[in-house]
Amino acid sequence: MADLKGLILSGGKGTRLRPITHTSAKQLVPVANKPVLFYGIESLAEAGIRDIGIIIAPGTGAEIREAAGDGERFGVSITYIEQDAPRGLAHAVITAEDFLGDSPFVMYLGDNLLRDGIVELVTQFRSKQPDALILLTQVPDPENYGVAELDGDRVARLVEKPKDPSSDLALVGVYMFTPPILEAARAIQPSWRGELEITDAIQHLIDAGMTVDPHIVRGWWKDTGQVQDMLDANRLILDDLDERIEGELIDSRVEGRVVIEPGVTLERSTVRGPAIIGRGSRIANAYIGPYTAIAEDVTIDGAELEYSIVMEGSSIRDLEGRLEASLIGRNVRIARGPAQPRAYRFVVGDNAEIAIL
Ligand code: DAU
Repeated sequence: MADLKGLILSGGKGTRLRPITHTSAKQLVPVANKPVLFYGIESLAEAGIRDIGIIIAPGTGAEIREAAGDGERFGVSITYIEQDAPRGLAHAVITAEDFLGDSPFVMYLGDNLLRDGIVELVTQFRSKQPDALILLTQVPDPENYGVAELDGDRVARLVEKPKDPSSDLALVGVYMFTPPILEAARAIQPSWRGELEITDAIQHLIDAGMTVDPHIVRGWWKDTGQVQDMLDANRLILDDLDERIEGELIDSRVEGRVVIEPGVTLERSTVRGPAIIGRGSRIANAYIGPYTAIAEDVTIDGAELEYSIVMEGSSIRDLEGRLEASLIGRNVRIARGPAQPRAYRFVVGDNAEIAIL
């Protein structure tokens, strides 16, 4: 088999993660202080794939290019491919045609996280040489995904986000393809949501008598398209954390699996892991509870946090109640206002969500 290439899809609009995605790509939201996208690049690199194309959108592409660069630090070579508009996953494949040439490839959705990586799956694809291989996993809410019906160990039928799912096997956002997928992507029509669905293109392969093998994922898988999923992914990654304390602790306590990066100061605070605190952050008079990821240059003073993600440059001060299950963007300021008049004062972007005590 010719050398496998990688195609990561990091275009799209990220509508379900607004307002974070008004200013930044959803694939760059950090999970345990690392952009979601980097986990995908690392999975491909681990499976021996060196030539990776990344689909980007005109608006957020520059930021993704800047973050991932030429790929050298991951040991891969990255080619950026701009998709004019989010016209669907199959449209993204067509857009990448010149990059793909006639190579087989792994397509990886840039907002997906797979705990066990893709090494096993690449081995299965290389040895059995099907026309395509898809990943499936059981989910409680199949109507939110592409859904597969199996016939023995063959894929019989695929439907994108069916109202009335006929199985609970969801399509995971990692696919292995051979060149016929390009022809299939060109043959299909846009779906009800106006997109060229990869699910329909794979169905087209099945209808043409090609072999589409299923691979059931055993370790956890997360599509981080929504806030709850993002927090959950953060929890799952933090669960595998190795303890490392490099910052400065003053009258502070650290319990359990905690990473404190260099340049962090912790004063009169308790951190209960699993938790991570990024470079240059200052934590004072605070409690940081389990499943919290605090990025770089954040200030937490006089507050309690748990099960949350705080992105770089933000500050949280003097809170009366505990902050939890929250996704705080970059350079956000949360603090107590002047004593009088006693009032809430918000400057909040579109589509934000605030729950007060
Ligand atoms: O996460 C698994 C699901 O991903 C599958 O079960 C579905 O069958 C599949 O259609 C897909 O569904 P989503 O609705 O979650 O896809 P989303 O629009 O979130 O796009 C997935 C990734 O691809 C995301 O990183 C953005 C990128 N993308 C999306 C579109 C529509 C592109 O690069 N270009 C596009 O045109």
